[in-house]
Amino acid sequence: MSTSAPLQGQVAIVTGGASGIGRAVGELFAESGLAGLAVIDVAECDLPELDAEVVTGQFDVADADAVRGFISEVHDRFGRIDILVNNAGIAPVVPWSEVTEENWQRVLDVNLNGAFHCTRAAWDHMRDRQYGRIVNISSVGAFLGSVSAHPAYGVSKAGLIALTKSLAKEGAADGILVNAIAPGSIDTPMLESFGPEARVEYAEAALLKRQASPKELAESVVFLVSPASSYITGATLHVNGGALLV
Ligand SMILES: NC(=O)c1ccc[n+]([C@@H]2O[C@H](COP(=O)([O-])OP(=O)(O)OC[C@H]3O[C@@H](n4cnc5c(N)ncnc54)[C@H](O)[C@@H]3O)[C@@H](O)[C@H]2O)c1
Repeated sequence: MSTSAPLQGQVAIVTGGASGIGRAVGELFAESGLAGLAVIDVAECDLPELDAEVVTGQFDVADADAVRGFISEVHDRFGRIDILVNNAGIAPVVPWSEVTEENWQRVLDVNLNGAFHCTRAAWDHMRDRQYGRIVNISSVGAFLGSVSAHPAYGVSKAGLIALTKSLAKEGAADGILVNAIAPGSIDTPMLESFGPEARVEYAEAALLKRQASPKELAESVVFLVSPASSYITGATLHVNGGALLV
């Protein structure tokens, strides 16, 4: 297999693929030999021309029925699902004093339950082919607690780490490897939503004194779904420029 095309012929689902990290992941997957890319996003997805067949589903990852229906269509169309990247996420800036049951639940519904719905819908297709690669995009917030975002943000991201470990145990015998990435500060619209001071503060907190580009984060995702990481499962890869040494 060519190292320049480690994903040759494969089919991937990327949630939150219209913007930021998810968008960069889709683009880098297409440069890595991917045959089919399915993007799920609530926002309209206007990806540039890619060297892969692209299908998009515009809906909320918290909508289990929509997720199930779309992933079934993706499988019907391509005949396989090799990769799932659970990346869609929200990080509303809400202080503890303004937390309500509704906004608490919404963060968990999107960031954690969305990953559960997508994983459950893709799982049997992966198990049937005895091959799957799942990457959950967590956050340093799983380890530090929320910094700028809603208190439920860190909770949801810590939940993704535990989900990663639980599913790594479930999938190992069936060739399904499940890993997480805990990004530090990445230069995306989500970071912008925290304001200019947060950008400076987060860059300062990293040993590398800067944000990562979405592409740098996407490189780590490609690594975790490529043959180069065939002995890695249940792990969390910390991509934070030295902001948190674990
Ligand atoms: N940017 C950072 O510094 C950073 C740090 C740590 C973790 N993360 C995580 O990385 C992931 C991607 O974030 P980003 O920085 O690229 O943000 P972003 O806001 O640029 O992109 C997030 C994408 O998810 C989509 N999305 C949001 N809610 C959705 C829903 N309910 N259903 C489907 N799609 C939905 C958005 O429309 C958007 O396209 C998130 O899970 C985020 O928590 C980001």
